[in-house]
Amino acid sequence: MTELSSPKRSNSETSPEYLLKLENVFKRYPMKTGGEKTILNDVDLRVRQGEFISVVGPSGCGKSTMLRMILGSEQPSSGTLLIDGQTVDGPSRQRGIVFQKYSLFPHLTVLENITFGLDLEEFSIFGRLARYPHYRKRKRAFAERGQEYLERMQLAEAGSKYPHELSGGMRQRVAIAQAAIMEPRILLMDEPFGALDDSTRQEMQLFMLELWEKSKMTIFFVTHDLEEALFVGSRILVLSQYYASDTGVEGAKIVTDKEVPGGHPKPADYKYTAEFGEMLGQIRRDGLDPEVRQHVKDFDLSHRDA
Ligand SMILES: Nc1ncnc2c1ncn2[C@@H]1O[C@H](COP(=O)(O)OP(=O)(O)OP(=O)(O)O)[C@@H](O)[C@H]1O
Ligand SMILES: [Mg+2]
Repeated sequence: MTELSSPKRSNSETSPEYLLKLENVFKRYPMKTGGEKTILNDVDLRVRQGEFISVVGPSGCGKSTMLRMILGSEQPSSGTLLIDGQTVDGPSRQRGIVFQKYSLFPHLTVLENITFGLDLEEFSIFGRLARYPHYRKRKRAFAERGQEYLERMQLAEAGSKYPHELSGGMRQRVAIAQAAIMEPRILLMDEPFGALDDSTRQEMQLFMLELWEKSKMTIFFVTHDLEEALFVGSRILVLSQYYASDTGVEGAKIVTDKEVPGGHPKPADYKYTAEFGEMLGQIRRDGLDPEVRQHVKDFDLSHRDA
């Protein structure tokens, strides 16, 4: 293994059973009119290394907010969020994120975009000047590694192109490579394929499953497309503000946390099975339909770690 390919895993020796643990997590935002609005209400979650978790929920329920807390760019208002048993106090290379779009630098080539994070991590502007020969050598090593990722993403020929010269699917693969090259333990994906047409989207789903199998990263995959969620994820989390509770409803809760049946990764035709259809219906009803208010005590939290 090269020096470059060994990620920093500071606490992994003492790593507990769970990579990520959220306990009684609340997120509240101040309102312009004064007071606070609860967005996430008492979220509990335990995640093991290597899980592929799909997250769905009505618009505005707090999916992106939850990802930002795992990323470390925001803190819970109360409760604990632990990674390897440690509280998270800011972003780190152990966690990468891919957004729906606009995450590439337009003035950098594809290869430069991909190696940007490695470069930034190792050299400040002054470091480049002060240690120029060393910088040149490392830069070459980064470029080789970037090229490996390009090949893995089936973009071998695209390194010298600029983002505007690529199709949407290619751009999104560059964005994934940009995050994946840092070898994060957790990859957060916020509607990554939302802007792609159907066939590109399906290709990208298969591509992500392959990447996951090779890398064994832990993935959080937020999507509006429930079929996509059930196809790519081994576990499905549904966050929703549509529920009933004796103590009042405020903000979203995890209303479903269960394993997606059918193995993982699934055969492409799994989407056409009765089991898949049934699960789709259940989640639409329990989590996404504002007319249906399932009681807290009836939530399907059947996942072994829920
Ligand atoms: N910084 C902030 N300050 C105040 N309110 C915020 C802030 N960020 C998010 N919110 C509010 O929190 C709620 C959840 O937002 P979030 O973006 O997490 O939802 P989401 O589930 O990702 O929605 P979508 O499906 O539309 O992407 C929304 O009501 C939003 O307006
Ligand atoms: Mg969002």
